[in-house]
Amino acid sequence: MTDSTIQTARLGASGPEVGVQGLGCMGMSFAYGPVDAKASRQTLERALELGVTLYDTADAYGQGENEKFLSPFFTANRDNLVIATKFALSIPPDEPTRRVIRNDAPYIRQAVEASLRRLDVDVIDLYYMHRRDVNVPIEETVATMAELVREGKVKQLGLSEVTAEELRAAHAVHPIAAVQSEWSLFSRDIEANVVPAARELGVTLVPYSPLGRGFLTGSFTNADTELSSDDFRRQQPRFTGENAAANAALLEPIRAVAEAHDASPGQIALAWVQQRSAVHGLPVIPIPGTRKPSRVEENVAATRIVLTDDELALLEPIAGKVAGERYADMAFTSAGRE
Ligand SMILES: NC(=O)c1ccc[n+]([C@@H]2O[C@H](COP(=O)([O-])OP(=O)(O)OC[C@H]3O[C@@H](n4cnc5c(N)ncnc54)[C@H](OP(=O)(O)O)[C@@H]3O)[C@@H](O)[C@H]2O)c1
Repeated sequence: MTDSTIQTARLGASGPEVGVQGLGCMGMSFAYGPVDAKASRQTLERALELGVTLYDTADAYGQGENEKFLSPFFTANRDNLVIATKFALSIPPDEPTRRVIRNDAPYIRQAVEASLRRLDVDVIDLYYMHRRDVNVPIEETVATMAELVREGKVKQLGLSEVTAEELRAAHAVHPIAAVQSEWSLFSRDIEANVVPAARELGVTLVPYSPLGRGFLTGSFTNADTELSSDDFRRQQPRFTGENAAANAALLEPIRAVAEAHDASPGQIALAWVQQRSAVHGLPVIPIPGTRKPSRVEENVAATRIVLTDDELALLEPIAGKVAGERYADMAFTSAGRE
C-alpha cells in the first residue's frame, strides 16, 4: 500500500483480499441520467490505480450494456481485479418501472452464459443472486449456483437483499462469500438481523448505495425537479416531494462532521459505513458508484477518515428520521420480508 492507495479486506472466508472500497459501475450505463463513456473509462482506470479491485455490475444494468461496456477494461486488467456480476432481475424495456425476478435453474444457467459472453471472460469471480424469487426455495437456487462453481464458471457466490434466515439456509448449501445490500447513514435496516448473521457465518458485507444514491453528498435535493425524467431516483419515495425536503434537512449533522475533518459530506457518509466494520466485527467493502475520476479520488480518500465516538453519536439518529422507504415496493428488499 502506498500513501495514495487503499487498505484491503477479505471477500468471503476463503478470500481473495480486495481494496476495502470497491466501485459500483451501474451508473456508467443505467439508472442515473446521461452517461459519459469517456469519463467512465477514466474513472475505471483511476480507481484501479488507487487500489480499488472489486468492480460491481449486473446483467440487469442497461440489459447487458453495462457488462459489455466494462468488458474491455476487465479483460485488459484481468489478473488485477475482481469481477462481480448478478442474475435474477430483468426490466422489460417498454415498462421501466416493472421488475421481473427469476431464481430457477434454467434461468440461472442461461443468465450465467450470457454474462460470461458479454464480459468476454472464462469465469466470474463473484456471482450474486440479485433479488429473491420467493417462488423458488433458496436452497434450490444456491444448489444451482454451486454447480456453476464446480463447473468453473464462477468462483464465489453472493446474495443481494436476502433476509438473515435466507442467508443461513443458503450458506448451509454452499459457502456464501458476500451479501450485498443497501447500507448507509439513511438505510440501516440490515443491522438488526442480516449483519449479525453475516458476522456469525464469516460472510463479507458489501454495502450498495453507500452515498444514499448521491443524496448524502448533497449533489441533489429533489429528484422531481433536479434529475432527468428517466432517472431511477424519481421512482424512490425518499427523494421526491415533501420527503425530499425533510430528508435534505437531515444532512446538517453530516455537514458539521465534514467541516471538522475538512472533508465533504459524501466522504463522511463513506467513512461511516466503512467504520461499521469495526462496530459490527465483520469485513465491510462499500461500492460507491461514480462516473467521474475526481469523485473516485474523493471517495477512496474517505477510507482514511476515522470518525470519533462523539461524531458517530451525532450521526446515529439520522436513519431513524428518514422520511419515505428506500424503494416504492419494499417486498423486493430483505426488510420487506424479515
Ligand atoms: N444489489 C442491488 O440491488 C444494488 C442496487 C443499487 C446499486 N447497486 C450497486 O451499488 C453501486 C453503488 O450504488 P449507487 O450507485 O446506487 O449509489 P451511491 O454509490 O450511493 O451513489 C451514486 C451516486 O452518487 C454520485 N456520487 C458518487 N460519488 C460522488 C461524490 N464524491 N460527490 C458527489 N456525488 C457523488 C454519483 O454520481 P456520478 O456517477 O455522476 O459521480 C451517483 O449519482 C451501484 O453502482 C451498483 O453497482 C446494487
